[in-house]
Amino acid sequence: MAFLLRFFSAFIFVLIPVSCQPGELFFAGFKGADTNITLSGVAEIGKNGILRLTNETSRLMGHAFYASPFQFKNSTNGKAFSFSTSFAFAIVPEYPKLGGHGLAFTISTSKNPQALPSQYLGLLNASDLGNFTNHLLAVEFDTVQDFEFEDINDNHVGIDINSLKSNASTPAAYYTDDSSKLDLNLKGKYAIQVWVDYDSVQNLLNVTISPTSKKPRLPILTFPIDLSPILKDYMYVGFSSSTGLLASSHYILGWSFKMNGQARALDLSSLPSLPAGPKKMHTGLTIVVAVSSVFLAIIAISSVIFYVIRKIKNADIIEDWELEIGPHRYSYQELKQATNGFSDKELLGQGGFGQVFKGTLPDSTAQVAVKRISNESKQGLREFLSEIASVGRLRHRNLVLLLGWCRRRDDFLLVYEYMANGSLDKLLFDEPKKILNWEKRFKIIKDVASGLLYLHEGYEQVVIHRDVKASNVLLDSELTGKLGDFGLAKLYEHGSNPSTTRVVGTLGYLAPELPRTGKATASSDVYAFGALLLEVACGRRPVEPKALPEEMVLVDWVWERFREGRVLDVVDHRLNGQYNESEMAVVLKLGIMCSNNVPIARPTMRQVMRFLDGEAQVPENLRAPQWAACADGGRDVIHGFDDFVNSFASSSFDKMSSSYSIMENRDIDNSFASLSTSPFSLLRVREETR
Ligand SMILES: Nc1ncnc2c1ncn2[C@@H]1O[C@H](COP(=O)(O)OP(=O)(O)OP(=O)(O)O)[C@@H](O)[C@H]1O
Ligand SMILES: *[C@@H]1O[C@H](CO)[C@@H](O)[C@H](O)[C@H]1NC(C)=O
Ligand SMILES: *[C@@H]1O[C@H](CO)[C@@H](O)[C@H](O)[C@H]1NC(C)=O
Ligand SMILES: *[C@@H]1O[C@H](CO)[C@@H](O)[C@H](O)[C@H]1NC(C)=O
Ligand SMILES: *[C@@H]1O[C@H](CO)[C@@H](O)[C@H](O)[C@H]1NC(C)=O
Ligand SMILES: *[C@@H]1O[C@H](CO)[C@@H](O)[C@H](O)[C@H]1NC(C)=O
Ligand SMILES: *[C@@H]1O[C@H](CO)[C@@H](O)[C@H](O)[C@H]1NC(C)=O
Ligand SMILES: *[C@@H]1O[C@H](CO)[C@@H](O)[C@H](O)[C@H]1NC(C)=O
Ligand SMILES: *[C@@H]1O[C@H](CO)[C@@H](O)[C@H](O)[C@H]1NC(C)=O
Ligand SMILES: *[C@@H]1O[C@H](CO)[C@@H](O)[C@H](O)[C@H]1NC(C)=O
Ligand SMILES: *[C@@H]1O[C@H](CO)[C@@H](O)[C@H](O)[C@H]1NC(C)=O
Repeated sequence: MAFLLRFFSAFIFVLIPVSCQPGELFFAGFKGADTNITLSGVAEIGKNGILRLTNETSRLMGHAFYASPFQFKNSTNGKAFSFSTSFAFAIVPEYPKLGGHGLAFTISTSKNPQALPSQYLGLLNASDLGNFTNHLLAVEFDTVQDFEFEDINDNHVGIDINSLKSNASTPAAYYTDDSSKLDLNLKGKYAIQVWVDYDSVQNLLNVTISPTSKKPRLPILTFPIDLSPILKDYMYVGFSSSTGLLASSHYILGWSFKMNGQARALDLSSLPSLPAGPKKMHTGLTIVVAVSSVFLAIIAISSVIFYVIRKIKNADIIEDWELEIGPHRYSYQELKQATNGFSDKELLGQGGFGQVFKGTLPDSTAQVAVKRISNESKQGLREFLSEIASVGRLRHRNLVLLLGWCRRRDDFLLVYEYMANGSLDKLLFDEPKKILNWEKRFKIIKDVASGLLYLHEGYEQVVIHRDVKASNVLLDSELTGKLGDFGLAKLYEHGSNPSTTRVVGTLGYLAPELPRTGKATASSDVYAFGALLLEVACGRRPVEPKALPEEMVLVDWVWERFREGRVLDVVDHRLNGQYNESEMAVVLKLGIMCSNNVPIARPTMRQVMRFLDGEAQVPENLRAPQWAACADGGRDVIHGFDDFVNSFASSSFDKMSSSYSIMENRDIDNSFASLSTSPFSLLRVREETR
């Protein structure tokens, strides 16, 4: 018996990672460290011993972890130990001012996390984000501002616990000896040393950075935390990094770590150096250089002359206001080259604003979509660009990312991330090879809703999309739905004649109040979203002139069937009945609610999101979409806003507000004079305005 016990205890000891590792590690460069460091993703150790986590290709991940785990907690009382680490890193971005995305010192349960690139930094994925079962501590050096994770800017240091929403963060900076604070550019192509110190008595985690080997007296981040519940007994330490559409090379030059003590100091001058950009020259080449300099000078002078002549010819003069615009300004040549001279072969599609081309930017493999807009007035452009300057910084996983822009005479080019699976309308209507199943459709609906909610409520100012419709919902290679074209409609509204404001939108998606007030609101976006919901569920467009008369206008048809209690009859028959009936019912009912003619009767996107997530029940007794008109005998003769509210209230306002709150300090335009009765009137309005 005693023998058996001893046998088993010995067996158990073999299974538990043994803590006979020294509790300390030190790498001044990683030459020959292949056995001690486990690499995954694209991480590799260079000839001179530099550890490169990623290169400048988009959507990569790189991980490097110490091969064996460290014991981070006292197994008797479960208290985390103190530790300290120091490392040097450098970030070399593809474009000088645009990093992508960053790197993180990581304490993790796994050496090869099942994670995503881009804003996820190779640490987590969309499904485990924020889950306390992750047991993850990361100190991030982030060079992209992701609004989704509430990043403060595109050059910050943050402490992340189980999530990518930092628990503490600060713009990258360091303290000098006299305690003054200097800004530091993380992607400055030079080595930056970092010290991360955790004191388990004070329960303090400090992060200190400096561009020199001397540790500043003051940390840049101090975060009070007891790591005991976050860490497990045995954890791996290392680094994680990722690139997105924009990319950087992320390097680690040296690393030291110590459990329960001060990590050995690193000396930046003894660490491997960054790969040189341009090749250095030997002295033997001096003569050649001298001769070629003269030659180059001649070429330079003639190209300056050539350039000036071309400049005058092209009149591509950069005006002051253009320099103030936020996102990257591409040169026309760059984009012309990227799209093979805007060749028809690269044409992705043609929309109301212009053509869209597929392209690959020179010096990178990132695919982009270039939208060319012509013939717009300078005035409109300028207003639009100032909007881009603020809106162009919007980042959310359900918005198509605007990478940059370019202007050349009357041509105006916008560069977006490329969406491999094209637009939703193509997958729904254009006789696609494969029918989108309900699961995917429902996910896309939720994606669009969260993108639109973000535009309405997630940013510092309310952003109205103005042109929500199936062809503006684009799908990436994983079929994630993303809203495109936000803000573009505004450009169109400011037509060449400033005294007329054209109403923008697309037939069937245009809220009935819009032609009258001319003022787009969050609630007119909700109307368009309602049309999109019905479209996805029924697999047909909002207005189908060729359909039977009673089926021509989708909302009316769905409403009729709903009234008759046969709402599932309208479902896209190509789904062959393969769908979740409760989800379908939610989508159809929401579609009816959002399509209400009266703006305040529509839910907000926040409410829509709650209905879609199943956190709230969609009311059973819905209002007819054209119900305000019914209240007045079918004629749209309600004069003045007060009358409208009165008739509204006298009918069954109370009943409605009990089922969902509708009077949420909405922007109700007082010029709201009358209400449209039927979507047919839209047809007329649309013809007049286009
Ligand atoms: N980022 C992108 N990636 C891939 N394809 C795109 C991208 N943007 C647009 N497209 C394709 O180009 C087509 C035209 O797009 P565009 O947005 O110009 O027109 P639209 O949305 O149909 O109309 P409107 O200009 O009135 O919004 C889309 O249907 C889509 O297939
Ligand atoms: C690396 O591993 C080897 C044996 O595998 C060991 O002798 C050496 O001390 C380790 N180096 C470090 C820095 O851990
Ligand atoms: C970056 O690494 C990937 C994977 O190792 C490789 O396919 C790609 O060519 C590299 N890109 C550059 C610019 O070196
Ligand atoms: C773990 O905690 C126990 C009880 O608090 C203590 O006696 C022991 O020395 C600790 N072990 C280590 C390795 O710190
Ligand atoms: C997300 O990460 C968790 C934990 O690492 C893993 O179990 C899961 O499979 C991952 N999900 C995806 C979609 O990769
Ligand atoms: C967290 O992860 C665990 C296991 O991975 C899972 O069972 C749980 O549902 C997740 N919690 C949330 C809120 O996602
Ligand atoms: C860290 O932030 C996450 C979410 O942002 C939060 O859930 C968690 O409680 C925070 N942890 C600590 C220790 O503050
Ligand atoms: C962390 O920094 C604070 C000052 O901000 C200092 O009092 C504390 O001793 C530091 N702790 C460690 C472990 O460095
Ligand atoms: C745009 O300008 C070109 C020539 O500059 C002209 O041929 C074309 O008709 C114009 N298009 C519109 C819509 O005004
Ligand atoms: C489009 O999505 C499908 C999944 O339905 C996927 O198999 C395919 O690879 C995607 N197409 C492209 C071009 O990425
Ligand atoms: C239908 O969807 C609801 C909510 O998403 C879910 O709770 C339910 O389990 C699903 N039913 C089936 C049969 O898949």
